[in-house]
Amino acid sequence: MIESHLPAVSTYAKDIDSLILLIGVLVGFWFFVCQGMFFWLMFKFRAREGHRTTYVTGEEKELARWVHIPHYLVLVCDLFIIVGAVRVWYDVKQNLPEPDATVRVIGQQWAWTFVQPGPDGQLDTPDDIRTVDNLHIEVGKTYHYKLESKDVLHNFSVPVFRLKQDAVPGRVITGWFEATRTGEFDIQCAEICGIGHGIMKGRIKIQSPEEHSAWMAQNSTPAIATASAE
Ligand code: CUA
Repeated sequence: MIESHLPAVSTYAKDIDSLILLIGVLVGFWFFVCQGMFFWLMFKFRAREGHRTTYVTGEEKELARWVHIPHYLVLVCDLFIIVGAVRVWYDVKQNLPEPDATVRVIGQQWAWTFVQPGPDGQLDTPDDIRTVDNLHIEVGKTYHYKLESKDVLHNFSVPVFRLKQDAVPGRVITGWFEATRTGEFDIQCAEICGIGHGIMKGRIKIQSPEEHSAWMAQNSTPAIATASAE
């Protein structure tokens, strides 16, 4: 259902969609039951000529069950939501699968910088590839991101991945994603971070292995050339 509005492009996107749907259905059901009861009772006990209003405290047994029974039913629904939420949370946030590659994501007012390992496969070496507002990744690979902020709180949000993570100054936050298909999608900052917050966006380009290695080859500077230039 959510997918028809926004494609689900990461391995965990569908789990998050199902969880949102589960919460929507359970909460929606009780919402309509409550509203239905509310309006029905208002109509049934509306003001009528010659009828005095009854004052009800709700303490009598046969009245109190109108509170207790729905209350227990709602608690049972809560159990389903908690179990579902913990499972998805564990998979997305706690469990960190072994990465095929790592990318550093740096937020600052008001742009995203992405640092990827160059041909040597190591981060923080002279052949790293740095890009601004454009992240190129390979489909089907597990990526770790190391999220940082240079100034204030930002939030690295990739809606098609159903990924949203705060970037906190002074901390490096590690998370993961794996794209399930190629394409180009939005990245946006999802935490108010100053006057330019609304324009702090980027694009994620999910490439096939061939496209990605061609892009790597095109953008990487051989380590030797960089070293000799220094
Ligand atoms: Cu960065 Cu909002």
